[in-house]
Amino acid sequence: MFFQNIDGKKIYSNLLKGKWEIKNHDNTIEVKSPINGETVGFVEAMSKEAVDEAINVAKETQLSWRDVPTNEKSKLLHNVADLLEERIEEMADVMVIEIGKDRRSCMSEIKRTADLIRFTADTAENIKGESIPGDSFPGFKNDKISIVTREPLGVVLAISPFNYPVNLAASKIAPALMAGNTVVFKPATQGSICGLYLAKAFNEAGIPSGVLNTITGKGSEIGDYVVTHKDIDFVNFTGSSEVGKRISRITEMKPLLMELGGKDAAIVLEDADLTLAAKNIVSGAFSYSGQRCTAVKRVLVLDTIADKLVEEILNKIDSVTVGNPLEGDFTVGPLINSKSCDFVEGLIEDAKNKGAKLLLGGERKGNIIMPTLFDNVTTDMRIAWEEPFGPVLPIIRVKSADEAIKIANESEYGLQSSVFTNDINKAFYVANRLEVGTVQVNNKTERGPDHFPFLGVKSSGMGTQGVQYSIEAMSRPKATVINLK
Ligand code: NAP
Ligand code: G3H
Repeated sequence: MFFQNIDGKKIYSNLLKGKWEIKNHDNTIEVKSPINGETVGFVEAMSKEAVDEAINVAKETQLSWRDVPTNEKSKLLHNVADLLEERIEEMADVMVIEIGKDRRSCMSEIKRTADLIRFTADTAENIKGESIPGDSFPGFKNDKISIVTREPLGVVLAISPFNYPVNLAASKIAPALMAGNTVVFKPATQGSICGLYLAKAFNEAGIPSGVLNTITGKGSEIGDYVVTHKDIDFVNFTGSSEVGKRISRITEMKPLLMELGGKDAAIVLEDADLTLAAKNIVSGAFSYSGQRCTAVKRVLVLDTIADKLVEEILNKIDSVTVGNPLEGDFTVGPLINSKSCDFVEGLIEDAKNKGAKLLLGGERKGNIIMPTLFDNVTTDMRIAWEEPFGPVLPIIRVKSADEAIKIANESEYGLQSSVFTNDINKAFYVANRLEVGTVQVNNKTERGPDHFPFLGVKSSGMGTQGVQYSIEAMSRPKATVINLK
């Protein structure tokens, strides 16, 4: 059963070999809603033995799954997408309460995930190998040909963060499976019930038993054990840079794909359309309360136009609504937990104490941080560098595009940046010098569409995500050399 009511607790099961199981219902974690603190349900804090079993099942099953024809794998993934589309309302209800995201965004995340899964299935069907004649290399005759195909890596461990519990799980699971790997999926604890609903769709869509297995438990307790497990062949992780760095330290030679934190800058040049820039900056900074890796996390604006931009931003901020996600689609709602609010409050206090000009917000109401805008932020303030993962936007005034580039690049992060300008030459000048995975010209920083390459440099990640890129990351070339007589 997907969940069981035991001693008054609704405990969600884990998927193991096609069946929903609770190994030990005495060892559970309570998942509480960030909205009202009410219990959403319980998940198992799995033991190392239970984790071993999930990994062993995935390892055994991989030998048969890799041989399932790609067109059949693709049909199964299309079935998953169909189920997600049928379940948008049901899954959105769970997501709203579990992670406090507004319902419209939850529904759009699930629809986007169905589209991503279909796109992944179709892309994998079109992946081709190549044949390379030996005689193109000096000194070789045409008696040798290398046939290069792609083969799976084995068992992929997919670890997702709380903020996109369905989409960022599927963006790992679907390409891993299409590449012929089996998957052990560990969702973020806050978000694990949504993750288990996703796994349920895979299971009910007909994915063979053992191909996808789930494990729940706190990352701080089982994380090290699972990422270093000898039978995990690849770790596909999205989460904070702190945890990502730890994983990369302890996994030694294991291949990794990691999408981590960010401090995305919106750079606004003198000739920019300031209304367009302000609209993008505001929606980029505040949607889902700023709890997006790609949120606009600082503005670097030329001194000469800063006053006008600030005025435009203040006009647009009227469209940012604040409230309870159970009562409407508000831009800003409660942060994921009180610890996160404490951290954001610390950044706000630091900026205030060091003389930043508070233009809006700055208060906390329960777990809601009111949309906060600071002007005249300087580089000695924590908010200039640290990722709040909350609705706080610092504006830093600069003297030139080069100074903006310098400050942008001084960050430890390198996920995305925006540049607002009407001059394509300036756009390229800035884009070519920014140390980030993606530069958005005249748009907010954002990941989609999901088949675009998505990557972070420096502390923002390792490897590239995006449908085809993810399939490639989770497979490797296999060369078979035919030697002719
Ligand atoms: P997090 O605390 O790093 O957790 C992410 C995942 O890692 C969760 O499943 C967590 O499990 C698990 N985990 C924790 N400790 C672990 C360990 N020692 N070993 C293995 N796994 C471990 O991040 P979050 O709070 O969920 O998400 C917010 C952060 O993720 C932000 O920094 C954001 O920028 C980043 N993010 C980046 C992207 C991107 O694509 N670049 C996308 C989304 C989010 P538990 O929940 O059980 O602790
Ligand atoms: O939180 C990190 C996500 O990868 C951001 O995705 O830009 O579509 O909101 P998004």
